[in-house]
Amino acid sequence: MTSNTPKEHPVSNATATAETKRPTVRNPGEDLPNQPLPVMETRALNVFYGDFHAVHDVDLKFGRHEITALIGPSGCGKSTVLRCLNRMNDLVPSARVEGTVLYHDIDVYGPKVDPIEVRRHIGMVFQKANPFPKSIYDNVAYGPRVIGMKVDSMDDHVEQCLRSAALWDEVKDKLKESGYSLSGGQQQRLCIARAIATKPDIILMDEPCSALDPIATSAIEDLMLNLREEYTIIIVTHNMQQAARVSDRTAFFTARPDETTGNRTGLLVEFDKTSKIFGTPSDKRTEDYISGRFG
Ligand SMILES: Nc1ncnc2c1ncn2[C@@H]1O[C@H](COP(=O)(O)OP(=O)(O)OP(=O)(O)O)[C@@H](O)[C@H]1O
Ligand SMILES: [Mg+2]
Repeated sequence: MTSNTPKEHPVSNATATAETKRPTVRNPGEDLPNQPLPVMETRALNVFYGDFHAVHDVDLKFGRHEITALIGPSGCGKSTVLRCLNRMNDLVPSARVEGTVLYHDIDVYGPKVDPIEVRRHIGMVFQKANPFPKSIYDNVAYGPRVIGMKVDSMDDHVEQCLRSAALWDEVKDKLKESGYSLSGGQQQRLCIARAIATKPDIILMDEPCSALDPIATSAIEDLMLNLREEYTIIIVTHNMQQAARVSDRTAFFTARPDETTGNRTGLLVEFDKTSKIFGTPSDKRTEDYISGRFG
């Protein structure tokens, strides 16, 4: 670990969240500054898979304690952008990232930054719930144990994470049972409990509700609004009602075909408060998409 890594940034997660924790859950978009106070930022972000230019020049700012939704038609690069934020694209051999991704003003692609450390601060929840083949308890305790996180009592920590993920009451009597024994919606909440167990600053969610029924989806949405009090959340969703229900700001992406190759490169069309994007968007392409005329 070097002094350039996010871990040693003065705004440590624990301190920042304790200081800025709000007593009540605000409604999406309520009390929102005009511009996000960014905890994370991309500047001229371009992503390539081999020769294929997947994402072109994305400039985005993600506000602290806000939920930012990334929306747009399939293949426009939403997951690609999301994965750049915690260097998950490092795991794709053909992927190449250009431009800058800043986390608390630190370049997460800087030469001295450890991607594992980045992922500790910027956790991820995937589309398909993917619990470890372990007990419910161990799913949550695994991360803190691996990184040697100091906790007064692991039992208390596991309980706290499961409570934060709104799962405790459903699992408190079967903590030793396999994570696989839970329903899909419960598994996704277990994955959220696992993601917050290492005390990240930011949680990335890639279509976390797409495999869930409306009741489980509603539970996760309530959970997101609660988690926003302590975390910054960036969510990819195809569900525009969901983006409108939970997010403070929305980024709309589309894909533009290259005239010669026909390859479709993703680009950011518009980024604004969610109420603006879904009310009076500035760009015709956004309007067409949210009104269902495209994509
Ligand atoms: N591992 C990969 N290797 C090569 N190309 C990829 C890879 N992952 C994504 N792509 C391509 O990059 C482009 C953007 O993909 P991405 O998955 O980011 O889109 P998306 O907006 O998340 O789509 P969806 O809504 O369908 O999930 C697509 O053309 C896709 O085929
Ligand atoms: Mg995707």
